[in-house]
This record gives sequence, C-alpha cells and structure tokens, in this order.
Amino acid sequence: MPSAVSPSAFIPLKDTVLFKPWKLGNITLEHKLVQAPLTRMRCTKNDEGVNIPSDLMVEYYGQRASKGGLQLTEATDISRYASGYPGVPGLFSNEQLTAWERVTDAVHAKGGRIFCQIWHTGRASPSGLLGGRQPLSASNIPIAGKALDGTDFSATPPKPMTTEEIAQVVADFGQAAKNAIEAGFDGVEIHGKSIRETSLGSTSDSPLGANGYLLDQFLHDNVNTRTDAYGGSIENRCRFLIEVVRSVCQAVGSHRVGIRLSPYNYFQDTKDSDPNLHWIYLCEQLAGLSQEHRPVYVHSVEPRFDEVLDEKAKMDALSAYGQNKDVEAEATRKIGHSLTHFRRVLSKGNIKFFAAGAYTRDNAVPTLEADDADAIVMGRWFIANPDLPRRLADGLPLNKYDRDTFYGANPPQKGYTDYPFFGGGAQE
Ligand code: FNR
Repeated sequence: MPSAVSPSAFIPLKDTVLFKPWKLGNITLEHKLVQAPLTRMRCTKNDEGVNIPSDLMVEYYGQRASKGGLQLTEATDISRYASGYPGVPGLFSNEQLTAWERVTDAVHAKGGRIFCQIWHTGRASPSGLLGGRQPLSASNIPIAGKALDGTDFSATPPKPMTTEEIAQVVADFGQAAKNAIEAGFDGVEIHGKSIRETSLGSTSDSPLGANGYLLDQFLHDNVNTRTDAYGGSIENRCRFLIEVVRSVCQAVGSHRVGIRLSPYNYFQDTKDSDPNLHWIYLCEQLAGLSQEHRPVYVHSVEPRFDEVLDEKAKMDALSAYGQNKDVEAEATRKIGHSLTHFRRVLSKGNIKFFAAGAYTRDNAVPTLEADDADAIVMGRWFIANPDLPRRLADGLPLNKYDRDTFYGANPPQKGYTDYPFFGGGAQE
C-alpha cells in the first residue's frame, strides 16, 4: 500500500547539528544556517550617493527570515563617500535608518535576527561615482581594467590615505555601527574582504565588484606599499583593520560585532605574498584582543569558491599560484589552502567561525561535524529559496537561482521577491 505521506526528496537535516540551537554573543539562535551578505541593488535613490532601502527590500528580508535564524544584509555604505554604487544602501541618513527599521521589524516579527554588513569600497569606486572625489586607498595603485561607469580605473588613481583620513574612516565605521543598532539591527559585520560580484551575474560586463574593498587594500602587500605605521610589516598592514574592529566594538559592544575576512581571494588585484602566514597573524591579533574589543565571529569564504571558476579550476589556480616562489611563500605551500588554520587560531579567543562558499545540503553538516565551522553561510541558495531553512530541514527540493537578476532586474521584484515558497506562493 502506498504511504499516505510521500517521502522527502532529500535527506531531512532537521535532526542534524545544522538545526541545533546555539549562542552568538547574547543571542540564542535555533539553527546554524546563515543568509550570506548579498548585494542586490534594489534600493531607491534619494540623492546622489544616498540610496534608501525600498519596500521591496522589507519584503525580501522578511521572506527569508526564520525563527531563530540569522541573516546578514548586503554590503551597506558607512558614509556618503564610502562607495558609489547604484542601488546599494547606506546607513548614514535619517531616511535610511527609518527604512532599515522596517526591514529589521519584518525580520524580528518572524523571530529572526539580522546583522548589517558595513563597508567602505576604497579604490573600487571610481571618482565618477563619487561625485568627482578621488577614491581613497592604501596607495595610489589602481585596479586594472574598467570601473562600473565605463572609465578606466587608472584614469583616476586612488589617493593614499592620510592618517587623518584613516582616523575619520575608523570613526565612520563606529558611527555606522551605532546607526545600525538604532535601526534595530542585532549587530554588524565589518566587510573586510574582497568579492568579485559582477562576474556572478551573466548579463553584465561592467566590473561592479572587480575589487578588494578598503580594509582589504591595506591588508594585501601588493596594494599596500606604504612606508608609514599602516604599511610595510604585516603588523602595520593589519593596523587599520584592528582599529576599525576596536572602534566598532567600542561603539556597540563586541558581542554584536562580526567581521568578514577572506585570505584566498586573489581577484580584484589583491594578491598577498603569503596569505596563510599573514592572515594567521591577523587572526592571532583578533583572538588576542581584550573581550571588549574582540569580535564575536569571523566569517570567511572557502578557497574552493570562485565567482567564475568551478571548484577544480579554482583550486588548481591557487596551487599554481602557490608554486611560484616569487609571489607566495613557504607557509602557504606547506599548509595548503584551507580555512581550518584560521578557525583553530580564532577559537583560542572563543571567536565563532562562519564558513561560506559553495555550501550545499550535502557538505554543510560534515563541516559542522568536523568542527571546521560554527555556522554555515549560504548565498545563492538563499536568493532562490525564501524558505531555505525549512527546505533543508525537511529534505525538500530547491528552486534554482537566476544569475541574470542578481544585480537588479526590470521589474525589480523579478528574481528578488518572486521566488516561490515550497508549495507555491510568495509567503509562508
Ligand atoms: C555576493 N557576495 C557578497 N559578499 C559580501 O561580503 N558582501 C556582499 O554584498 C556580497 N554580494 C553578493 C551578491 C551576489 C549576487 C552574490 C551571488 C554574492 C558573496 C556571498 O556573500 C557569498 O560569499 C558567495 O555567494 C558564496 O556563497 P554561495 O553563493 O556559494 O552560497
């Protein structure tokens, strides 16, 4: 006799470690599946460089909220000139804060939690998108190639930041974090890594994200050629980032602060000479901070993940790079490319570790079981599945994602709020 209840299409994960409650700082979460920060460019423009979270964003984040789940927002400008991207939100005007409050309310109404990812893009935003201002960076070395506005990055090389400008950005990060809490966020994630977003969208050739952002530009020694206290040794190159971490923790309490770091992104022209040695040093610094300045989590992207290459091609590219004695040093050749080294160092300071990058229903649980991460972050699957936690818990099939609508669409709800919940419909 056929069963009255049809079996799940996949193994339900509800009884696995992925769905075990856990604590992050002062909050208790009911599962370990985190929504990745995802730039979607659906804001409303209020003024040049001032974009407001739209009603659609309230719906989008609300759809993806789950009881006891954690979401990370798209990268959000800390100040007017922190970036020049269209459709990307900020967190520095009253209108923006009021609009974000509607987003955080929608998430909290479903019992979810949400952190805001805060960024400064540095040399990744050309002056044409910064109201004519020269972009700031560690040095005057531009990114190779063209910017989003079609100009060559080299046409407006970045300005090496003065120590006063560095101090201002440190303060801006702190203020943005305060603003985030005022808007109802449960915490903030400092964006300290590089991504190459545009290549994820198949429609656009414009190099929207072909870059490493400001803090990353100071970390990597091929961009940071400074000779002052913010350049040269790894200790000096980490200084800006550590100052930002301290400023943000001071502003809102370290239990509400995370940071995203990714040693293995060699794109956006950020190519450190020894990522293992240098990022282990950085992780030691973070783990050694006093509790009031120590972030509650670090979030990293697996080396296998790449926006363009498949997993094998990415790992081959990293190995090939590692074999070149001139550009990558002994430590990386010895210990290979893996996030586990960083995870081990950070856990000495009780810093939780989030792992992202090509996670699926098959590899998430083994990673948690091996204690290689405290939480698993998914991006593209969350774009396509507003009810992703439920689908994984119950072994339900997943909607496929549409790359063409990652960075905006016409109408904007296309590929944004119109992915169906399991069983149909735009709401649970
Ligand atoms: C991203 N990613 C990203 N990362 C980040 O730190 N801030 C951001 O704003 C964005 N924006 C963004 C937009 C889109 C459309 C994509 C697809 C990706 C990277 C993202 O957080 C994640 O690390 C990758 O997508 C890898 O995870 P998945 O998709 O393999 O689960």
